[in-house]
Amino acid sequence: MIYILGIESSCDDTAAAVTRDDHILSNVTATQDVHKNFGGVVPELASRAHQQNIIPVIHAALQEAKIRKNQLSAVAFTRGPGLLGSLLVGTSFAKSFAFGLQIPMIEVDHLQAHILAHFLRDESGTKPPPVFPFLCLTVSGGHTQITVVKSPFEFHVIGRTIDDAAGETFDKAAKIMGLSYPGGPLIDAYAKNGDPEAFHFSKPNIPGLDFSFSGLKTSILYFLRDHLKQDPDFIEKNKSDLCASIQSAIIDILLQKIKAAAVQTGISEIAIAGGVSANSSLRAALLKAQEDFKWNVFIPRLEYSTDNAAMIAITGYFKFLNSDFADFSVAPYARSSF
Ligand code: KG4
Ligand code: ZN
Repeated sequence: MIYILGIESSCDDTAAAVTRDDHILSNVTATQDVHKNFGGVVPELASRAHQQNIIPVIHAALQEAKIRKNQLSAVAFTRGPGLLGSLLVGTSFAKSFAFGLQIPMIEVDHLQAHILAHFLRDESGTKPPPVFPFLCLTVSGGHTQITVVKSPFEFHVIGRTIDDAAGETFDKAAKIMGLSYPGGPLIDAYAKNGDPEAFHFSKPNIPGLDFSFSGLKTSILYFLRDHLKQDPDFIEKNKSDLCASIQSAIIDILLQKIKAAAVQTGISEIAIAGGVSANSSLRAALLKAQEDFKWNVFIPRLEYSTDNAAMIAITGYFKFLNSDFADFSVAPYARSSF
């Protein structure tokens, strides 16, 4: 049996998890509230909070898993992409930990991990993981891409955003409306009582499988600016309808491209991953598409959608089986290698 401790510190969540083979034993996340009023993650504050949280979070993950440090087979950590100061905390901790325990260290790419989260098994008896090759729409705060996943290690990106990411668009739209960070979950919540047809925003016209969200963001900005001139309470009065309409515009863009990718590749095993895959409207739209197009869809449980360390541990497990270990000179990277 292989026990992996996974550590995630790429952005504003300090997380640790323990897996036994592909089974999740614990999954602990300390979310940083310090960024709420800044409209985005403040890198300096994030690094400090990671430094404060990392030991208690790892302690809790080991305790919950009922695993002693010396039972661990390896420690897996997020090497990138992400904020360098944040990644350094997890990377340095992993090095010291592996050095102290004389166990291997495994570097993990955050985006690969979001996708491989679909291979985590837990006691909830979820359906079997996707069969290779499958398509994955990865939608997070920093990335939006469609990948053909051929094996745990073979990824072919066939579409990506040419400007903002989907999560970033949710967060920026929320900021324009005066909502706190991260805005995605708030828009999702307000949208539940709103009419998605109430307002219409301009849609991008990007050929192929690439995405663009900056036009939509500008269209929201101008729309609100014009209406606020006439009625300073416009946002307050229309909050739910605005959230539902903005959410619907973003989800439409995502759905249009994943449908095109399914047609182009002939693949009907379709997964979603990343923080925005927690969005209730995207989840519902995917389930509807499953019916309409006879897809087999894979939607991660909420705790494996947003940033978590269980996905780092399962990726570490796959790499452990391949004896793919990092050496002590490893340093974080800010941008994705794929
Ligand atoms: O994967 P993630 O936790 O961190 C990154 O790797 O970026 O994704 C965070 C993003 C944020 O932009 C957040 O607003 C968005 O995921 N998000 C959501 C929801 N939950 C998180 N967006 C829309 N609806 C949600 N329910
Ligand atoms: Zn993420």
